[in-house]
Amino acid sequence: MIILGIETSCDETSVALVTAEKKILAHRVLSQMDHESFGGVVPELAARAHLQALESLCAQTLQDAQIGFDQITAVAATCGPGLIGGLIVGATFGKALAYYHEKPFIPVNHLEGHALTARLTNDLEFPYLLLLVSGGHCQILAVENVGCYKLLGTSLDDAVGETFDKVAKMLELPYPGGPSLEKAAQKGHPDRFLFPRPLTHQNNCSFSFSGLKTAVRYQIEKSMPLDPQDVEDIAASFQKAVADILINRVENAFKMNSHLKTFVMAGGVASNAYIRGKMEDFCQTQNIRFVVPPQNLCTDNGAMIAWAGLEKLRLGYESDLNFSPRPRWPLEELKLGRNSFNV
Ligand code: KG4
Ligand code: ZN
Repeated sequence: MIILGIETSCDETSVALVTAEKKILAHRVLSQMDHESFGGVVPELAARAHLQALESLCAQTLQDAQIGFDQITAVAATCGPGLIGGLIVGATFGKALAYYHEKPFIPVNHLEGHALTARLTNDLEFPYLLLLVSGGHCQILAVENVGCYKLLGTSLDDAVGETFDKVAKMLELPYPGGPSLEKAAQKGHPDRFLFPRPLTHQNNCSFSFSGLKTAVRYQIEKSMPLDPQDVEDIAASFQKAVADILINRVENAFKMNSHLKTFVMAGGVASNAYIRGKMEDFCQTQNIRFVVPPQNLCTDNGAMIAWAGLEKLRLGYESDLNFSPRPRWPLEELKLGRNSFNV
């Protein structure tokens, strides 16, 4: 089985070829930098850039793997959630390829791509506890099977990645914000400022980041004009607060779901080395297995889409050329889909 995966839900255009033996035959990711001068992703620009890049990126990926379309089993493309323009470009391109070459087309939920990546990179059985931390989402889920996700908690306001991006912008760090903030934090003192850890006293798995973001803004205003050391210290103190919040919420989730013994982290923020280290330490103290994909497979990529497509296909999911891309598509709704399979 070889699956071609296409990812276009935000500002990364990516194509990959993945096998059932968990081999990534080829993988190309094109990060759009056109958004730099705007300080954030401009949906219209992103859609146009996907359209411009996709065809040659796909041809290059096939060439990297030295295979032709006849060797491909199916095409999988992200069909949501995400920016609708990009989703339409990727889904339509994937459907056209599949139709022309008479292969099945598998629509993939982007969050499911993140959720299953650890099964591509590691030997990992169901069930596991998942912390999904990306630009648009912050959720804790019990992953029970492909297509079967139980939401245990989510952010009541901003997503974690979004908070990283906003704080980076306030600190005038370069775009993209998350990685820049992590870099600045490496040289900072994480205990210089004590930022709040919202909701950590609550006995549930909810998150809130808006109070933390506001506290950082007040501190920036108070410390003006900022010298480089101030920027680094604020970044490090903020990052420490985020790690503490995430660990506290995950700890609660394990207390409330004691049958789960494995912890998986996924999504763009899971590429943050400081948070990975803190989570690893936490899991060690709790005797919990910790699994996190390599950093380049935490941020958006086509390999996770190919893999999720493969997992669905081998469970009997049928080709679906009529699937319409969905800007909003919660993981819990997967079970209700047309091609539902309760395993
Ligand atoms: O999963 P992802 O690539 O795209 C979405 O599905 O949203 O996640 C992107 C998010 C962005 O908000 C980005 O700033 C954040 O992940 N991110 C990071 C790091 N790398 C990416 N946040 C903190 N530290 C990083 N190293
Ligand atoms: Zn993502």
